[in-house]
Amino acid sequence: MAESMKGLKRSCRCAEVTEANVGQELTLMGWVQKSRNKGGIIFTDLRDRSGLIQLIFEENDCGAESFAKAEKLRSEFAVAVTGVVEKRSGAANPNLATGTIEVRAKALRILSESEVPPFPIEENSRTREELRLQYRYLDLRRPDLQRNIMTRSRVATMVRQFLSDEGFLEIETPTLIKSTPEGARDYLVPSRVHPGSFYALPQSPQLLKQLLMCSGFDRYFQLARCYRDEDLRADRQPEFTQIDMELSFVDVDDVLDVNERLLKKIFKEICNFDVPLPIQRLTWREAMDRFGSDKPDMRFGMELKNVSDVVKGCAFAVFAGALEQGGSVRGINAAGQAGMPRKKIDALVEYAKGFGAKGLAYLAILPDGSYKCSFGKFMSQDELTALVEAMAGKPGDLLFFAADKDKVVFDVLGNLRLELARQLDLLKKDEFKFLWVTEFPLLEYSEVEGRYVAMHHPFTMPMEEDLPLIDTDPGAVRAKAYDIVLNGTELGGGSVRIHQADVQEKMLEVLGFTKERAKEQFGFLLEAFQYGVPPHAGLAYGLDRIVMLMVGADSIRDVIAFPKVKDASCMLMEAPSQVEKKQLDELGIAIVLPEKDGERE
Ligand code: AMO
Ligand code: AMP
Repeated sequence: MAESMKGLKRSCRCAEVTEANVGQELTLMGWVQKSRNKGGIIFTDLRDRSGLIQLIFEENDCGAESFAKAEKLRSEFAVAVTGVVEKRSGAANPNLATGTIEVRAKALRILSESEVPPFPIEENSRTREELRLQYRYLDLRRPDLQRNIMTRSRVATMVRQFLSDEGFLEIETPTLIKSTPEGARDYLVPSRVHPGSFYALPQSPQLLKQLLMCSGFDRYFQLARCYRDEDLRADRQPEFTQIDMELSFVDVDDVLDVNERLLKKIFKEICNFDVPLPIQRLTWREAMDRFGSDKPDMRFGMELKNVSDVVKGCAFAVFAGALEQGGSVRGINAAGQAGMPRKKIDALVEYAKGFGAKGLAYLAILPDGSYKCSFGKFMSQDELTALVEAMAGKPGDLLFFAADKDKVVFDVLGNLRLELARQLDLLKKDEFKFLWVTEFPLLEYSEVEGRYVAMHHPFTMPMEEDLPLIDTDPGAVRAKAYDIVLNGTELGGGSVRIHQADVQEKMLEVLGFTKERAKEQFGFLLEAFQYGVPPHAGLAYGLDRIVMLMVGADSIRDVIAFPKVKDASCMLMEAPSQVEKKQLDELGIAIVLPEKDGERE
């Protein structure tokens, strides 16, 4: 039985009803959370996106017909109720915004019935995620997900408002484009009209927003869908949304300034958190040296210390060997952890090996001041004491050391630092520590490709004072690039762009582009730059990541209405899927499946 809502009009949402409405007749519409029949009286919790309210059905008030319908109510029926708001007769429910009131029903319509849902619609579901994603429309009825999606909407609205007030224009850019060199694999869309040719879905609107600067719009923003065919992680999706912006006639500080004010506004309004301005800045070099990461979590200390000078010339082959190879020896101090059981330490050594460590040396300073040390037999007491002093070690502390190439040492200790913080419960979700990381290297050497690749993208401006190094020591050139980091997550990143043709040409040459390939890939941009290009700079945030951190979600999937799972498929629609032969024929596409699954790249 599905009744119409003809003649009825929804008065408000369930949890919008307050004690001020007592005595009024209202019509509410929503879903049955649960219904309890106590004989002559039925209590029903009605739910919509605002929350719950309790309904009471008694035959005297609502008549026999509605009462009979009320007796049939089950969870997730969609209903319309007209009734009078009353103070609760029984005890108030302090857990409910509407806990002091209830609605005495006068009439009930069942708008549509529901099968028994495959899992309960409740906060903090323990149902496995695959099942929830298969029935995402039901999963999205759960209050925590509803709150996340509503928060996301509020953030988007606020961002639009703030940026518009700051003189930014919202301009859409196409999503069927030519591939932009952003580092990840492109999603390709075959062209029917041009058989054998493909569009790429944008990894970001990077080149198009730079062209908009050439066109004179001077401040652009967009909530842009971006697509990257890369391995998924808890904070990555194959399609995601950027808050993307670009500004003309500006330098680094102008971009950071407007963005600090944007962050302050949205974190105040959404989380009631005051972001202290200016946001702390670290150069990339300093972030690596002190935290072993280009996106350090600043909610706790445990900084890395370089002890290479202290252990220089020691007899411990692991340390001496790393230094000889041009690497370093660095340590972190897990204060107060000297009593950590051997099993736990061994697990940390294994954890470190997961990041490329060959081993992890440790030294515990026991309460009596003596040392328990995995490399004690290779070093004199004086050498060990010097090392402990360099690490500011006190009785009760546990020191870890990694010796290797810098890159490995940073990766190992940076991650060990985070793992220790997780184990010691140092990461509070309601604490927000923002950080700008600036002066990223312009280039990084790719062992795979055997050449330098752009760390951000090929249009990022080198720091003027480093330009002379570009031929002699490309790896040492710093870029006018910056990331905004929150609690160890990269929220966003951007850079000042190259606007001089000669610098751009040089950059492309260093990246190994022949003139022909450069022209073929982004000739349109190089050409545009010949017609009076303003100096410009920009930044893009991951909107999903911002909302994830704001609501304290563990996964980006919890703030996306219809996310994809690890293998990039959608459990709900079962995408991707095969298509009809006719569609492929039109596109001139033949499918060649790999012979065995394992042979697929
Ligand atoms: P970048 O590649 O650093 O820069 O991306 C900007 C921000 O987008 C978010 N992000 C993602 N979020 C979810 N899933 C993903 N797979 C994913 N990839 C990136 C991150 C990241 O910081 N065009 C430049 C910006 C610029 O220079 O203006 C760009 O796209 O939060
Ligand atoms: P070994 O002589 O192999 O028993 O190593 C002595 C200690 O040094 C052990 O605790 C190893 O885990 C540690 N170790 C080995 N390689 C490294 C390395 N590259 N960096 C730090 N410690 C290491």
